[in-house]
Amino acid sequence: MAKGTPGLDLEKAKNVAQTVVGDVASVVHGALCFIGDRVGLFKAMAGAGALTIDELATKSGLSARYVREWLGAMAAAHYVEYDAGADTYLLTPEYAAVLADEDSPFFIGSYFQMAQAAVSVAPKVAEAFRTGKGVTQAEYPQSFFEAAERNSRTRYQHKLLRKWIPAMPQVVESLQAGGLAADVGCGGGRAAIMIAQAYPKARVVGFDIHAESIERARRNAQAAGVGDRATFEVANGTGLPTHGFDFVSTFDVVHDSVDPVGLMSGIRHALKPDGTYLVQELNISNKVGENLKPMGKMVYSVSTLYCMTTSLAHGGAGIGAAMGEPKARELASAAGFSRFTRLPIKDDFAVLYELRP
Ligand SMILES: C[S@@+](CC[C@H](N)C(=O)[O-])C[C@H]1O[C@@H](n2cnc3c(N)ncnc32)[C@H](O)[C@@H]1O
Repeated sequence: MAKGTPGLDLEKAKNVAQTVVGDVASVVHGALCFIGDRVGLFKAMAGAGALTIDELATKSGLSARYVREWLGAMAAAHYVEYDAGADTYLLTPEYAAVLADEDSPFFIGSYFQMAQAAVSVAPKVAEAFRTGKGVTQAEYPQSFFEAAERNSRTRYQHKLLRKWIPAMPQVVESLQAGGLAADVGCGGGRAAIMIAQAYPKARVVGFDIHAESIERARRNAQAAGVGDRATFEVANGTGLPTHGFDFVSTFDVVHDSVDPVGLMSGIRHALKPDGTYLVQELNISNKVGENLKPMGKMVYSVSTLYCMTTSLAHGGAGIGAAMGEPKARELASAAGFSRFTRLPIKDDFAVLYELRP
């Protein structure tokens, strides 16, 4: 192969190679961001102004030699601003909001933890490409589920209570009046806990098939002081052990599930006749041609590394994360819901569907 390869445009091939180098750089740089998140470097830099290598090493209690190499990578990626004259490094307020401040609405620093855990399973996923089977949840490191909880905690804190639930007045009314709510596929329980905190008369039950997540959710609820009103059970949404809910939610669950129609149908049976089911899914089209952008690149990759693959591990539907509204409507109708409304909420990451029996 080379110059004479038919159809090969050498200039274009050089550009492709540059793009791929940039992508590989992002992968390994992502590992350094994972480390920065884990050992507290982003947090140490946040609000600290311009720092020398030694100042950051002292502040973070870490090896100066490692800090120097890490800062080089962060500067090259423009995550920190390097002042060559002063030999200092600055994490701007904007990067601090995205990478360091877990209470900021912009915080996505935990994505690196999720990516690292997901990538660690890639050899098993490669095997699944050959067999067409999948990788079970039990084969993923706990860190993956902890990262998912960190990701969603920020989302719930800023959106669930302030925008999503208020968009459904009948839900607000029932929760204020002491209604019964369920969060199915609750993971570490952050949504259920926040609902219990915001609505002191309401009771919330979190269900999940993943026992370790339920254990963590119980501990989180105790720590938050709502362990009596936010309780958690290992259960499959296809056959919930409790019925009579005023409000049920699933956050990023339907596209992961083994039996999505069974899950939504189980939820419909568990709802009161005038109850509400809130489905949150990813803001992404089901058409590849509409997803040719960074969000598509991330969602298809995470879907392959977890969402589709854990569903296929049990012979499931394997819908994948790029589910899109038409599929959501089809599933809701098959599960027997008569009303489907897309809530008019603008969000780069999420779409919300309000379903009524
Ligand atoms: C991507 S995680 C989302 C967790 C949580 N809702 C959040 O937003 O952080 C999907 C969760 O759904 C759970 N799950 C999937 N199918 C389920 C089912 N049929 N019944 C109950 N939980 C289910 C998984 O175990 C996992 O914890």
